[in-house]
Amino acid sequence: MTQTVLPAKDYDAFRNFLESACGIVLGDNKHYLVTSRLNRLTSEFSFASLSDMLDALQTGRDKQLSERVIDAMTTNETSWFRDGYPFEMLKKSILPELAKKRPRSLRVWSAASSTGQEAYSISMIISEFQKENPGALTGRVEIVGTDISSTVVKQARTGKYDELSMARGLSADRKQKFFTDNGDGGWTVNADIRARCRFTELNLLNKYVLLGKFDIIFCRNVLIYFSSEMKTDILTRMVQVLNPGGLLFLGGSESPTGYCRDFEMARLPEGVVYRLKE
Ligand SMILES: C[S@@+](CC[C@H](N)C(=O)[O-])C[C@H]1O[C@@H](n2cnc3c(N)ncnc32)[C@H](O)[C@@H]1O
Repeated sequence: MTQTVLPAKDYDAFRNFLESACGIVLGDNKHYLVTSRLNRLTSEFSFASLSDMLDALQTGRDKQLSERVIDAMTTNETSWFRDGYPFEMLKKSILPELAKKRPRSLRVWSAASSTGQEAYSISMIISEFQKENPGALTGRVEIVGTDISSTVVKQARTGKYDELSMARGLSADRKQKFFTDNGDGGWTVNADIRARCRFTELNLLNKYVLLGKFDIIFCRNVLIYFSSEMKTDILTRMVQVLNPGGLLFLGGSESPTGYCRDFEMARLPEGVVYRLKE
C-alpha cells in the first residue's frame, strides 16, 4: 500500500466530501493530518491507496466506510465538568430559578455529546441540586446526548470509563458518589445518574424535530469546526427546538453573535450563557 500525502485534487475532493457529510471545514494545509488519520483505514478496508479509498468514498455507496472516515476526522476530546463554569451556573443560578416555576419536566440536550461526560456531568449536577434542595425539581428530568459518531454514542451508552478518562475533571468526591469501581481499572456511572440520560446518533446537519423541545441546550466545542453558513443554519434550527426563554451553552471560544439574532447574552455570576429572546 502506498502511504503518500494526498495530491491537491484529491485533497480538495475530500474537503468537499467532509464538509457536506458533517459540516467540518478543513483548512488549506491539513494534507498531512488527513493522510495520517486515513492511512490506517486504507489498509483496513483493503484499498491499494488512499486515492482509491477516496474515489470509493465519493460514490457514497459504502455507508460503513463513510462513517469510519467521519469518525477518524472528528475530534472527540471531552472531559467531566468541562470548563467548570457552565455546570456551576446550572447548579447555582439556573436550576434555582427553574425550580421556582415547579416545571413538570426539564429537558436538556447535549448536542455533540462525544463519549457522554457532558451529559452525565449535567445529570450529576441535577442530583446534587436535588439533594441540597429537598422537594425542588421533582418533575421528570431528561438529558438527551447526541453525536454524529456511532462509536462515541455506543461508548456513552455503556457509562463505563477507564482511569485516564476518570482523571479528567472529576473530583474524588464525585467519583466516589456517582461511580462504581468495576475492579478492572474501569468505573461505571451509577444507575440513578444514567437513568436521566439517553444517547442517540444525530448529525447536526440533519433535522432536530424528532428530539422534541428542550429547556437547555449544551452545544459546546463543535461549532468551531463549521463554516459561518453552517453555524447560522444550526443555531437557527436550535431556536426551533428551544422552549420560550430556553438557554444555550456554547464553548468558551464560540458565540452566536454574527450567526443568529434570536439569542441574547446573559451574564450570570458564574459566566455567560445565551438566552432565547422573548
Ligand atoms: C470536541 S467534541 C466536544 C464534546 C463536548 N460537547 C465537550 O464540549 O466536551 C466534538 C464532538 O462533535 C461531534 N461532531 C462533529 N461533527 C458533528 C456533526 N456534524 N453532528 C454531530 N456531532 C458532530 C464529534 O463527533 C465530537 O464527538
